[in-house]
Amino acid sequence: MVRRSCPGALTLVVASFVALAGCAGTDSGVTAGRSTSAGSGPVMSLPGTATTVPDTDPAPADSSPPSTEPSTTPDPTDPSGPPVADTGDGIGDELYPALGNPGVDVQDYLVDIDYDRSVGVIDGSVTLQIEFTQDREQFTLDSLGPSVTSVTIDGDEVSFAADEPELRITPAEPIEAGDTHEVVVDFTAAPDGASSLSGLPSGWFTTPGGSYVLNEPDGARTWLPSNDHPSDKATWTFRITVPNDVTAVANGRLVGTTPTDDGEGETWEWREDEPMPTYLMLLVTGDYEIVESSTADGLPLVSVVLRDDLEQMQPFLDGIEAQIDFFETIFGPYPLDRYGLAVTDSFGGLAMETQGRSLFSRDDLRAPNGFIEELLLSHELAHQWFGNAVSPARWGDIWLNESFATYAQWLWLEHIGLTTVADETAFALENRQRGDGDATGAPAADDLFGYNSYDGGAIVLHALRLTIGDEDFFELLQRWAAENEGTSRTTDDFVDLAETVAGEQLDELFDAWLFGDPPPAGFPLVSAPAPG
Ligand code: ARG
Ligand code: ZN
Repeated sequence: MVRRSCPGALTLVVASFVALAGCAGTDSGVTAGRSTSAGSGPVMSLPGTATTVPDTDPAPADSSPPSTEPSTTPDPTDPSGPPVADTGDGIGDELYPALGNPGVDVQDYLVDIDYDRSVGVIDGSVTLQIEFTQDREQFTLDSLGPSVTSVTIDGDEVSFAADEPELRITPAEPIEAGDTHEVVVDFTAAPDGASSLSGLPSGWFTTPGGSYVLNEPDGARTWLPSNDHPSDKATWTFRITVPNDVTAVANGRLVGTTPTDDGEGETWEWREDEPMPTYLMLLVTGDYEIVESSTADGLPLVSVVLRDDLEQMQPFLDGIEAQIDFFETIFGPYPLDRYGLAVTDSFGGLAMETQGRSLFSRDDLRAPNGFIEELLLSHELAHQWFGNAVSPARWGDIWLNESFATYAQWLWLEHIGLTTVADETAFALENRQRGDGDATGAPAADDLFGYNSYDGGAIVLHALRLTIGDEDFFELLQRWAAENEGTSRTTDDFVDLAETVAGEQLDELFDAWLFGDPPPAGFPLVSAPAPG
C-alpha cells in the first residue's frame, strides 16, 4: 500500500480542492490552497439540520404570500421589522442568501455568446424559458458583473435595473403563477474569475491558450445572468462564436458548427438534454480536438483534449471505461447520456465534475495509473451519480456531493490496489478528531470545499455502512441515485431514504457524525474490538 504524499505544487494553487482534500489533514492540511482574499460572502448562523425543500419549485425563505410589488425602500417608521416580505433577492439558501430567484423555475437556457480571447469580452445573449411559480409584478435573475443592455419578454422590450447581485426585471403586465415566458437578456461581460464566495475562485478564467469556466458554487452569475442555484435544473443549448482557429466546447452533444457571415469565425452549437444547474456548466475554448468513442455498452464517450496533448492524454481516455464499469456495479447504471474528459491548459489542482464531461488540468494528468490521476478521475466520474444526477437542494448539503465522490474515489483506489478504504477512513477519522469548527453537515460559507466536506465527510458514509451493513448501504446508494435522478435533494431526504432502506431510525447516527465536531472517536462495530 502506498500512503500518498501530497505534491507541493498542488498545495499552492488556490483552486485546488480534490487533490487537496485528498491530502488534507497532513501538514499541507485543509487550510492549504485556500484563497486568502476569499470570504467576502455572508456567513450565516447554521441550524443543526437541513431543511427539506421541493426540488423543482424553490420557495422563498419565509412563508409570506407571493410578493406582488417588491419595494427596496424599507419604511423606518414601521416597528414590526422589515416591511417588505420579499425583496426578490434569493430563495433562502442559508449559506448564500442572494442566490436563486423566487418564483423563477428555468426550463431551458440558450446561451448565445461571442468570445475572442484576445479581446477578453463576452458579448451575447441568454434566452431563458421560465415557468413562474408565483404571481409576480417583478422578478430577478442573478447577475454580478455582466452589463445588461436589453431585456425582452416574449419579444417585447421591458424595463430592468441592475441591482447587483440581482438583475430586476419588470414585465409590462403582472405574471401569473403557472405561466411560462421567454425572457431574453442581452449583455456583455469582461469576466475574470473573481468570485470567491466559497473560499475558492469561481467563474470564467483565461489560460495561455484559451478559457474555461469553473462555476461552482456561484461563478455563473459573474458572466451569465441566470438562476444561479443548484435547486433549479434546466436543459441547455450553447452557441459559442469564436475565431476560426479556436474550438469551443460545452456540455452535451455537438449539434454542429456554422461559419460567421464575415467568414472570420465559427459558431459551435452544443446541446445538453439532461437537466443541469448552472454550476455544472462546461465551457472551454482553445485549440481542442474532440475525441469520440463509446463503451462496449454503447455509452457515447466524447472527450476534448488540446491538440498538442493528444498522446499524453490517450491512456487517460482509455481508462474511462473501466472506471464506469466499476462504478456501475456499485452505484447502478451510469445516469447520464454520455461521458468524457475535458483537459485544459489551466494550472494544476483543478478538477470539476462538469456535467457529462469532467474538467481537468493537463498538469494533473501526467502519470498513467498515478495516485493523483486515479483519485481525480474517479472522483469526478463518481460525481455524475452524486452531484449531477442528484444535485444538492441547498449549498449546505454539499457533503451529498463531495463526501460521496470521496468515498467512491476510495472504493476505486482500493479496487486498483493503491490504498484501502480501511486506511483512508482511519486516517480521516483521526483528522476529524481535531475538530476544526465546521461539521460536515454544516459547512461555513467561506469553507464550502473544506476537509469536512471531502474526506472528513466520507467517514460519515463509512459509519453508516458499518451500522446498516454492506447490503443495505449499497442498495441505498443505488436507490439514492436512481430515484432522485434529475432532481435536487437535501440531507434530510437522504436520511429518510437511509431509514427506509435500513428499516431503522438513524437520526442519532447522522446527528453525531454529520453535526458532531468532533464526531465520535471510533467507528461503529470497529470502535471497540474485543479485548485481546
Ligand atoms: N466540485 C469540485 C470537486 O470536487 C470542486 C469545485 C471547487 N470550486 C471552485 N470554485 N474551485 O470536485
Ligand atoms: Zn468533488
